[in-house]
Amino acid sequence: MDIPVKKLKNGFKLPEFGLGTWQMGGRDKPDTSNDAAEIAAIKAAIEAGVTHIDTAEAYGGGHAEELVGRAIRGINRKKLFITSKVSEENHTCDGIPTSCKESLKRLHTTYLDLYLLHEFSTECPLEEAVQALDELVDEGLVKHIGVSNFGKEHLKEAQKLTKHKIVCNQVHYNLQVREVEKEGLLEYCQKSDVMLVAYRPVQKGKLLEDIPPMMQEMCVKYQKTPAQIAINWLVAQKNVVTIAKTSNPAHLKENLGGIGWNLTESDVELLRKDYPGQVDISDLIPLG
Ligand SMILES: NC(=O)c1ccc[n+]([C@@H]2O[C@H](COP(=O)([O-])OP(=O)(O)OC[C@H]3O[C@@H](n4cnc5c(N)ncnc54)[C@H](OP(=O)(O)O)[C@@H]3O)[C@@H](O)[C@H]2O)c1
Repeated sequence: MDIPVKKLKNGFKLPEFGLGTWQMGGRDKPDTSNDAAEIAAIKAAIEAGVTHIDTAEAYGGGHAEELVGRAIRGINRKKLFITSKVSEENHTCDGIPTSCKESLKRLHTTYLDLYLLHEFSTECPLEEAVQALDELVDEGLVKHIGVSNFGKEHLKEAQKLTKHKIVCNQVHYNLQVREVEKEGLLEYCQKSDVMLVAYRPVQKGKLLEDIPPMMQEMCVKYQKTPAQIAINWLVAQKNVVTIAKTSNPAHLKENLGGIGWNLTESDVELLRKDYPGQVDISDLIPLG
């Protein structure tokens, strides 16, 4: 399928749905026991139309990037959009280019479409980090730059410091985790032409257990599953796209069924207002 693409006023484009890779190839250390299945899952996603693949140097201690690199061999690189992230401890003028080049090696590619600061660092000066990102764009190693898990004020600061545009903030956002709304970040991104990339759209499957009556009604009304409603609720919103991880072909097919149609505006707002179990802060990485 052709995944619909969202475009910022400045021309930056990102598909509404992409594939996450956290826990493919291990958590914080490499785990090679499931390599063949993970590579097959990434390839299957690409065959199904997924072009945006999200990874990070931290995932599986770099092994997730290696798996992506192996899965994309032989595929026209220009048809893919690869995002990676530099870990907080490497947000220095030397650390960022070194990390980027290592990611490129593991991914078997000559450039990243998007490179993100994985989270705000309280140790490394932001000015140094964003200058290093700018230089990667100037050198052609990175097409676009962005941040992840940044609160509104730090995002604004990063925007002031960069020569190239901060095109996105990748953050924890779903029907239950609403920190980006409470913090005013969602509204800020919508007003200031920044893409909000919502990670953990099904809250690692937790949103799909104990389905509340409100979700059951939506599923009947739209003839969709809870995962599809959860994904559509995100991408129905201005400047919001999402990334979900799955290594399971049935889940991939289901998740892709979350795009290409629209919840009504009133149902988007109803789910925003009344969806049960909402929390005001991420249970993974609070905005920094
Ligand atoms: N920037 C950051 O700090 C940050 C933090 C977290 C995540 N991320 C990125 O965002 C991506 C997505 O987030 P996530 O992986 O944490 O959470 P997620 O996509 O909400 O959930 C992934 C988990 O849910 C399962 N799942 C997916 N679709 C399903 C479905 N339709 N039915 C049942 N189970 C389903 C997957 O298992 P199966 O594989 O068995 O389907 C996997 O265990 C990550 O992979 C990563 O790339 C970024």
